[in-house]
Amino acid sequence: MKTLEWVDNKLKLIDQRKLPDEIEYIYCDSYEDVIIAIKDMVVRGAPAIGVAAAFGMVLGYIAGEDMGKVADEIKASRPTAINLFWAVDRIYNSDDPIKEALKMYQEDIDTNLAIGRHGSQIIEDGDTILTHCNAGALACVDYGTALGVIRSAFHQGKNINVICDETRPRGQGAKLSVWEMQQENIPVKLIPDVASGFLMSQYKINKVIIGADRIAKGGVVNKIGSLMVALAANYFHVPFYVAAPLSTFDFDSSIFDTEIEERDGDEVRYYGGCRICPKQTDVINPAFDIIPKELITGIITENGIIDPI
Ligand code: MRU
Repeated sequence: MKTLEWVDNKLKLIDQRKLPDEIEYIYCDSYEDVIIAIKDMVVRGAPAIGVAAAFGMVLGYIAGEDMGKVADEIKASRPTAINLFWAVDRIYNSDDPIKEALKMYQEDIDTNLAIGRHGSQIIEDGDTILTHCNAGALACVDYGTALGVIRSAFHQGKNINVICDETRPRGQGAKLSVWEMQQENIPVKLIPDVASGFLMSQYKINKVIIGADRIAKGGVVNKIGSLMVALAANYFHVPFYVAAPLSTFDFDSSIFDTEIEERDGDEVRYYGGCRICPKQTDVINPAFDIIPKELITGIITENGIIDPI
C-alpha cells in the first residue's frame, strides 16, 4: 500500500484523515485538488507533501496552466516543510515534468531504504525507542524515515519495542504511527504526550528517533511537541536522533528564520469531535517546533549519520 500513486494521469492519495479505521482514497485530477489535499492534510509529512506537490505541478503542466502561477499557489499551501518548495522548484526547472516527478517518487523510496540501513546501526537489541508524530511510510511515498529506521532494525531480527506519543492536537502518533507498527507486528505502545519525560526518568525509553520538516543552520524543525521530548531526552541523557533525507536540508538559512505554520484553533478546542473548553476560548496552535542543534545526537540521512548543521 502506497501513500500516494500516479494512476491514469491522476494523483491517488490515501485519505490520512480517515485512518486508522477506514482506508479510503482520494483522486486529484487538477493541481487545485492537490493544494486542497495538502491544506486539509489528506496527505501530510514532509517527503509525502513534496512528492504530492511534484505531481500537482505535473497536473498543472498537463492542463496547460501558467507554471509560475501553479508553482506559487502550490508553495502557498503549507509553509514549513521545505520538501514542498524543493519539489516544486525541481519540477519547475525540469524539461520533462512527468518523468521528473516519477523519478522523485522512486528516489523517495530508495532514500528511505538507505536511511533505514544506516539508522539501524544505532539500534541495539533490547532498545525501547520513542518516536513523535508520524515519520513513517504515510509521511513518505513508502517505508518512512524515523519509522524506516525502526522497520529496518526489526526486520534484521533485533528485539525492539516502540513507543509512540499521541501527538496532540491531530494525533498522528496515535492514529498513524501506532497503526503502521501494528500492520507489521512491530511491538508498540501508545503514551500520552505528557508521559515521555516520566518514562525517560524511569529508564523505560533509551532512544528517541523523530523525522524532520526542515533542517537548517542551528537545528531541526519538526512536529510540535518535539522540543519537549528533546529537552527531556537531553536531561536524562537519552540519545535523540533525527532521520531525514537530504531534500529536507536548507544549508543556507538559519532554522530560526523558518515560518512556523499556525493552524486552526478548533484542532485544539475539539478532541475526537468533542469540545474540551468553553466555546469562545482563544487558542495558540503552532504546528511545528524548533529543536536547537545542541539537543540532537545525530541526523540519519541516506548518506550516513551526520552532525546537525
Ligand atoms: O503536520 P504534519 O503531519 O505534516 O507533520 C509531519 C511531521 O512533523 C513529521 O514528523 C515530519 O514531516 C517528518 S515526516 C518523514
